[in-house]
Amino acid sequence: MSATTKRTPSDFAAARVRNLAPSPTLAVSDKARQLKAEGIDVIDLGGGDPDFITPEHIRRAAIDAMNAGDTHYVASAGIPALRRAIAEKLRADNGIVVEPMGGVVVTPGGKQALFEAALALIEPGVDVLVPEPAWVSYVPMVELAGGRAVPTPLDPDDNYRLTREALETAVTPASRVIIVCSPNNPTGRVFERDELATLADFAQAHDLLVFSDEMYEKILYDGRTHTSVATLDGMAERTLVFNGLSKAYAMTGWRLGYVAGPTPYISQIAKVHSHSATCATSFVQAAGVAALTGPQAFIGEMVAAWDRRRQAVSSGLSAIPGIACSPAEGAFYAFADVRGTGMTSAEAADFLLREAHVAVTPGVAFGEAGEGHVRLSFATGDTALATAVERIGAALAQRV
Ligand SMILES: Cc1ncc(COP(=O)(O)O)c(C=O)c1O
Repeated sequence: MSATTKRTPSDFAAARVRNLAPSPTLAVSDKARQLKAEGIDVIDLGGGDPDFITPEHIRRAAIDAMNAGDTHYVASAGIPALRRAIAEKLRADNGIVVEPMGGVVVTPGGKQALFEAALALIEPGVDVLVPEPAWVSYVPMVELAGGRAVPTPLDPDDNYRLTREALETAVTPASRVIIVCSPNNPTGRVFERDELATLADFAQAHDLLVFSDEMYEKILYDGRTHTSVATLDGMAERTLVFNGLSKAYAMTGWRLGYVAGPTPYISQIAKVHSHSATCATSFVQAAGVAALTGPQAFIGEMVAAWDRRRQAVSSGLSAIPGIACSPAEGAFYAFADVRGTGMTSAEAADFLLREAHVAVTPGVAFGEAGEGHVRLSFATGDTALATAVERIGAALAQRV
């Protein structure tokens, strides 16, 4: 370009961002918010936000910290009390041993932890396996870091089980990282013992680092338990655990998460963190200590409410011709199979917003393997959910 030709704004957009779409789940919620502002009674099942307020003792800890003058920068990787509380939580809940002062970075949300890890450990020439359906931000994060995301489709008709065959089909000589999520967003699947063993064997056979997103570990149904892949033989040294307080403590708006693992990897991530976030908010970290070390009964109460809603949603949706929806094993999403309606997932999501005034996320937002499905969050009130299911049934009945 000559110096006399004026650049357009798109000339200024970096190539890595120019074709990047904003988060589709946030886009669904934005659209729902816009329709609500126009006076339309939309039920938004697009987001992933617990419908509970953060417990009082956690709010109080933040207020007390703020009033005590805890309003300054703090240690970049996190206040020592929180890093110790996280290391203790990982030991007691998960059987994972990390160095509190070298093996943990506290971030403004788990999303930021994943992004910083991507920047620190992924680069051009690196392939990253992403079993799909997968949370909407993994692929963009890999690509922003200059790596190549390799979709690893899992089979809806096999309950999205992680199989050695799917992994071996996707792996390339350049594969260095695999990103997994259990309990899974969007499918609600929870890895079984044999899937964890498959993952561990595969990661060791191909010398891969595992990014294990365990954000929903506390949200489990039917007596299931959470096992981190980091605890399988040989895996602690090659697993980074990502977690946060958003879901388990109803703290989405506070932005508090972390990554934990072997110090040599964490120290690379800590550099990115120090040059981007600086630190997570000081008084929010004080609240994080209160959350992790205080009473935990609240989590069980939330999960009991979501359990009730999960069953109501899956039986309500499954009774609608064209939809099949097995109950989630964990997390708070129903991943409904809409193939029987003849619509693609995007068509179904558009139809439901337009005709039923219910906002859902099209499955294709989670990768091609999510096609034919829509994701509905059941972290919302019982009445709104029941109305949403009724409206979906009525709209589809009108359609034929
Ligand atoms: C699978 C998964 N990972 C990570 C995150 C990030 O959560 P946060 O940044 O609120 O900690 C989310 C949020 O929706 C998620 O669903």
